[in-house]
Amino acid sequence: MKREQWGSRAGFILAAVGSAIGLGNIWRFPYMAYENGGGAFFIPYLFAMLTAGIPFMIMEFGLGKKLRGSSPVVFSKLNTKFEWLGWFQVLIAATIGIYYVAVIGWAISYFGFSFGQDWGTDTNAFFFSDYLKLGENSPTNLGDWQWHIAIPMIIAWAITYAAVYRGVKGGIEKASKIMMPLLFIMVILLIGRVVMLPGALDGLNYLFAPDFSKLLDAKVWSAAYGQIFFTLSVGFAIMLAYSSYLPEKSDVNNNALMTVLINCGFSIVAGVLIFSILGYMAAEQSKGITDVVSGGVGLAFVTLPAAINLLPIPYILGPLFFLALVVAGLSSHISIIEAVTASIMDKLNLAREKAATAVCGVGFVVSMAFATNGGLLLLDLVDYFVNNVALLASCLIELIVVGWLVKLSDIRQYVNRVSEFSVGQWMEVCIRFVSPIMLAVIITKNLINTVNEGYGGYAQFELITLGWGLVAAMVVVGIIVNSTTTPARDMETES
Ligand code: PHE
Ligand code: NA
Repeated sequence: MKREQWGSRAGFILAAVGSAIGLGNIWRFPYMAYENGGGAFFIPYLFAMLTAGIPFMIMEFGLGKKLRGSSPVVFSKLNTKFEWLGWFQVLIAATIGIYYVAVIGWAISYFGFSFGQDWGTDTNAFFFSDYLKLGENSPTNLGDWQWHIAIPMIIAWAITYAAVYRGVKGGIEKASKIMMPLLFIMVILLIGRVVMLPGALDGLNYLFAPDFSKLLDAKVWSAAYGQIFFTLSVGFAIMLAYSSYLPEKSDVNNNALMTVLINCGFSIVAGVLIFSILGYMAAEQSKGITDVVSGGVGLAFVTLPAAINLLPIPYILGPLFFLALVVAGLSSHISIIEAVTASIMDKLNLAREKAATAVCGVGFVVSMAFATNGGLLLLDLVDYFVNNVALLASCLIELIVVGWLVKLSDIRQYVNRVSEFSVGQWMEVCIRFVSPIMLAVIITKNLINTVNEGYGGYAQFELITLGWGLVAAMVVVGIIVNSTTTPARDMETES
């Protein structure tokens, strides 16, 4: 059977951009920029984008297109010994997909709440006590299952399932062609209104005012580097799967460049949006902006609802904001689930419908662990280990495999042959030296930190089982699957 293909170039780019632009752009990037030197953060961020993001994206698009397979297929075609790396990436994607859907579920709930600002004035108490019903819980003491969190998660799963079930062209591409323009329009409408609010410019000033002293801080560089892989969805099976559906005549380099630039441009736009709102909020409450800024889930579900209370036409701007969050999240979720589904299809020679049903079914059941009183804590813990340990390790190993253990110059020649413009030797330098060195430093630092200090005050037992144990299990499962045979299907490659 012939591998599925994207219907158009725009369809592929919208799908890739849909994966890249996600919750991370909206709530992670603005806060990181603010924390790490404001305007000066753009220097390390652009450096990471140029030396890691663009070369990595070109490399993944090239490998996926040339070797025509999901991540495990790509790595096993490079060398059968490397198939485990593909499965490690698939398991990272699956894990992210299982908790990411919880956040989309919260956003769906908040979309509903936003029409009447049902969250009241104490948005902190509303989120943690009334909505999540977080009590004396922990990641290993989850409390009870919560229907009101489960239902929006079911809605999110249903949309993802429908898109992945229908396939590359009829499902994912179609969904992206609706979702991405919708997202851009919503964000433009939001920005158009909020940048005119009093105080908005002070907010932007805070975001963009450069603190150059931070450039000497290694933490800032590591934050920029860590963010770039997550935000671009590279290094965990997604972009390999998407590019494996590229028709033979497709460009690689230009598509990769556009995907990276649109994603990073969107991050900056999201920063403008969020900080305009925060600046307005600070002005309304006669506070300093530092008193209203928060990071992570608190930004989207505590601070912004409080800010929306103060906005003009909150019953329009609130729903717009949360719908944007939902759409950005869903298009990323579709890409994660597709990466997992494609790998199972390739390995077991299974029809798409069956693989999608199995993946979404199992994913759905496991994700219900997050629809509990302690779901947020479990999510926080797993997310920390996945992002700071597993994901970065996977990117580093991929760079070593592609940069050192196979012939990277062949891959560069291949992408240049099929592309509208060529990339020079610098790409190989970035993939072999700059990115792996940066990553090795960051990972070492993260490991030392986590071993010494743990994370978030969680119990040692929880860190060992749900953190270290989970990451180790992903590697072990990958190695076990690597030792099983793959049916000789779809083994064609492009020359
Ligand atoms: N790129 C996404 C973001 O910035 C991250 C992501 C994509 C996470 C796909 C999971 C799956 O939010
Ligand atoms: Na992103």
